Amino acid sequence: MPHRARCAAGHRPLGEVSDQPARQHPPRGALSFRDRDAEYEAARRKVQTFLNAQEEREIIFTSGTTDSINLVMHGYGRKFIGRDDEIILTTLEHHSNIVPWQMLAEEKGAKIRVVPVNDRGELLLEEYKKLFNSRTRFVA
Ligand SMILES: Cc1ncc(COP(=O)(O)O)c(C=O)c1O
Repeated sequence: MPHRARCAAGHRPLGEVSDQPARQHPPRGALSFRDRDAEYEAARRKVQTFLNAQEEREIIFTSGTTDSINLVMHGYGRKFIGRDDEIILTTLEHHSNIVPWQMLAEEKGAKIRVVPVNDRGELLLEEYKKLFNSRTRFVA
């Protein structure tokens, strides 16, 4: 039966422990921390090469697309996008690439410019080019 282990001095919970005998082997497919780190670092180098990034540390893994976009918005966006600056989006974006920019635009007084699409759902590239001006700060 599981029970909470407690630190003798501070009575701080240390986690659940079980009376059952410990498993003899780690679960199949489990990697050691060292193996897992090596895999991450190898993947980071591959992505760096693929994207032609200058340094490995430019490649940051997150839990997913939404998390990454939020990271860019809070990091880059909050620092470099200000009042009357412009962010270009398309009408084809996933929700996760609209909401953070709307929030930033509201917070900073920036503007969102939207690339239109035609009836076939294709971006109007000539219209897209026209959206760029000296206030353009980001294409999301
Ligand atoms: C185009 C696009 N952007 C963003 C997302 C959100 O991705 P995530 O679940 O990794 O945050 C999805 C998810 O399907 C997607 O298709």
